[in-house]
Amino acid sequence: MAVRIDLADVHDLHQVLEDHPRYWGERDLRALHLTALVREFGSTCLVARADDGIRGYLIGFVTPDRTGYVHLIATRDDARGTGLGRTLYDAFTEAARRQGAVRLKAITSVTNEGSVAFHRSLGFDDRVVQDYDGPGRPRVVFTRDLN
Ligand SMILES: CC(C)(COP(=O)(O)OP(=O)(O)OC[C@H]1O[C@@H](n2cnc3c(N)ncnc32)[C@H](O)[C@@H]1OP(=O)(O)O)[C@@H](O)C(=O)NCCC(=O)NCCS
Repeated sequence: MAVRIDLADVHDLHQVLEDHPRYWGERDLRALHLTALVREFGSTCLVARADDGIRGYLIGFVTPDRTGYVHLIATRDDARGTGLGRTLYDAFTEAARRQGAVRLKAITSVTNEGSVAFHRSLGFDDRVVQDYDGPGRPRVVFTRDLN
């Protein structure tokens, strides 16, 4: 089944929130799905569509210091391991480069081993930063230079 990458809009955001567990399992990340991000950074928010709905999405933006920051990326439970996460990252990288990005950055929780393996496969360096999200809240920080 063909999958195409489109820019995400607010309707897409609501759609994936309705199906939240299929992208995030038992973790509740709904509060991170801010309408403002899709509204204000629409050219770097992406959705992967197929005839059976949204297979995956990426919400990101380019910061003033030219970092392409990926705030959220998820593929639907039945679409994992098919290269879709990589495809979404490639599309984001292209969009971020067009806005002048010279590096990529993302973060994840220290228990998210799948995310660490995924980002390593995509060539990111990773390090644990203690207190990244406040006292006693470490995060894994991924970075990759764009040449
Ligand atoms: C992380 C996630 C986005 C990966 O998406 P995906 O579509 O399965 O990834 P891809 O199929 O494009 O995989 C790309 C590479 O990463 C590797 N990879 C992906 N998930 C992996 C895992 N759980 N363990 C080991 N390697 C993994 C693949 O083997 C592949 O490597 P290769 O290209 O060298 O063969 C997906 O598992 C997901 O949505 N997880 C739940 C949400 C989440 O945790 N998001 C990340 C938060 S920052």
